[in-house]
Amino acid sequence: MTGHLTVVDTAATRIITLTRPDKKNALTQDMYRAMSAAINSAQADAAIRCLLIEGSGGVFTSGNDLEDFLNAGSDGAGLRGSEATTFLHALANNEKPLLAAVEGAAIGIGTTLLLHCDYVIASSDASFATPFVPLGLVPEGASSLLAPRALGHHRAFALLVMGRKLDANDARDAGFVNEVVPAEQLAAQARKVAAEIAALPVEAVAISRRLLKPQPSELIDRIDHESKLFGERMTSEEAIAAFKKFFDRKK
Ligand code: COA
Repeated sequence: MTGHLTVVDTAATRIITLTRPDKKNALTQDMYRAMSAAINSAQADAAIRCLLIEGSGGVFTSGNDLEDFLNAGSDGAGLRGSEATTFLHALANNEKPLLAAVEGAAIGIGTTLLLHCDYVIASSDASFATPFVPLGLVPEGASSLLAPRALGHHRAFALLVMGRKLDANDARDAGFVNEVVPAEQLAAQARKVAAEIAALPVEAVAISRRLLKPQPSELIDRIDHESKLFGERMTSEEAIAAFKKFFDRKK
C-alpha cells in the first residue's frame, strides 16, 4: 500500500481517496498499484456495490507524476507494462458501478479515467484537461475511443489533441459530468448518489451496465495500442523537453 491513498469501505461503497495534496495528488506507481488492488479486490466482494474515487486538498489529481515520466522517458523505458497500464486494465475489467467526485484540477489520466466512470459529480471549481499533445504525448486510457463517443469528434479533438481545458459546466455540457455542486457539498453528494445506486437490484445493475459499455476486450485493445504509442512518445525529444520545462518553470 501507499501513504498517498486511502481505501475505506462504508455503506456498500468502496471509497478510494487520493491523498498526496502537496503534489496535487500526482499519481505514482505505488498509487496506481493500490488503486488497481482496490478495484480488483472489490470485484468478487458482494458487500461492495459501488466504487467511488475522489481527491483531497482541493484537487482531484494532476495526473501521472511528471518526474516518473521524465525518468522513464530519459532512461528509454517508456510506459509499457507500467502500473498505469495495469490500472487502466482494472478500469476496463471493472464490473462495479464506478463514481468519481472531482474537486479542482483533473489532469491527464485524472480526466481520462472519468470516461470509464458511470456517474461523475464535479464541484463548481473543477477543471478538466488532457495536455497529452502539448507534452509531446498521445491520448491514453482508451480515451481515443471513449472521448469521441461521449463528446463527439470535434470536442474530443479540442480536449485530447489541442489540450483545451474545460470547466465544470463545460464538462457537464460535454456529457461526462452528471452534476455540478458547490465544493462543500461534493463529498456528501457523491456518497448520496453511491447509496442510491447501491440500493438498486445488484444483478440488474450489473447486466444493464454491461449493456451500456464497450466490451472490456475492446477497451483493453485500445489501451494497449495507445500505451505502446505513448511509451514510444515518452522517449521522444518533444516529450522529454516538455517534462523538463515543467520542473524548470519556477527557476
Ligand atoms: N507530477 C509531479 N509533480 C507535480 C505534478 C505532476 N503531475 N503536478 C504538480 N506537481 C507538483 C509541483 O511540481 C509542485 O511541487 P513543488 O512544490 O515541490 O514545486 C507541487 O506539485 C504543487 O504544484 P504547483 O504547480 O506549484 O501548483 P499550482 O497550483 O500552481 O498548479 C497544476 C497546479 C496541477 C495546474 C500544475 O501543477 C500542473 O499543471 N501540473 C502538471 C499537470 C500535468 O501536466 N500532468 C500530466 C498530464 S499527462
